[in-house]
Amino acid sequence: MKPIRKAVFPVAGLGTRFLPATKAMPKEMLPIVDKPLIQYAVEEALAAGITELIFITGRNKRAIEDHFDRAPELESELQAKGKQALLDCVQTILPPHVHCIYTRQSQALGLGHAVLCAAPIVGNEPFAVLLADDLLDADIAVTRQLVDAAHQHNGSVLAIQEIDPRDSRKYGMVAGTPVDARNTRVDHIVEKPAPQDAPSNQAVVGRYVLEPEIFDFLRLTQAGVGQEIQLTDAISAMLTQRPVFAHRYQGERYDCGSKEGFFEATIALGQKYHGLQIPTK
Ligand code: G1P
Repeated sequence: MKPIRKAVFPVAGLGTRFLPATKAMPKEMLPIVDKPLIQYAVEEALAAGITELIFITGRNKRAIEDHFDRAPELESELQAKGKQALLDCVQTILPPHVHCIYTRQSQALGLGHAVLCAAPIVGNEPFAVLLADDLLDADIAVTRQLVDAAHQHNGSVLAIQEIDPRDSRKYGMVAGTPVDARNTRVDHIVEKPAPQDAPSNQAVVGRYVLEPEIFDFLRLTQAGVGQEIQLTDAISAMLTQRPVFAHRYQGERYDCGSKEGFFEATIALGQKYHGLQIPTK
């Protein structure tokens, strides 16, 4: 398999679950302590050796572009005031060898459609997809774990975790044949099934390494669950022709697309990385 250099970040979603906070601000810019969700995802991609960051944006997403750009006025202000640590923190968000590419998804037609918008930029090489809503805290970046599994098994790889079967309607659900301790060759994947229709209790979380053949299947994919073009449906169609593996990653997931998960991540990461404590009154 070719090296995986590119990562796609679908960030066009409206973030209605966090209104009114997301009325004028992208949900991906919501901070966990002091860093926006999208930066956690980008740092994870960088830790996997990714150098090309492809953002699929939409209206009201300018703040994401600004975040990953230089901020000359802020930088000279911090410089003038001798605030070196803060200056470093804004200047080192991206290393110099990394490039950002932005393209617009002009209609909210679903995750599959968003990924397809990246086809002309990705070209004929394998790539990662990261959904910033899923914050994955791990000793070894989860995208790195998937990239390693993709090279080892020579196929696409999806991150999975076991869930409460009652929550199957929130996820792509997979089943297959185990090939080693952490990897399963997928033979069945279905988007957001009812619990009685779920093939297992293994759910896809928002990390994928995909072979470029996925674009051929995405082009043929019709609207599915929620009247949206689903990435899961394209992966399902690809199963007969290309190997797809589900990787049981090591790490902790916080579902920051939900208020509960966002709140949990704030407390857990605040304690773990910032030494914060909730003051006792
Ligand atoms: C998307 C995918 C779903 C996956 C989930 C992980 O759903 O469609 O298959 O399990 O991300 O977070 P969404 O959460 O965007 O509805």
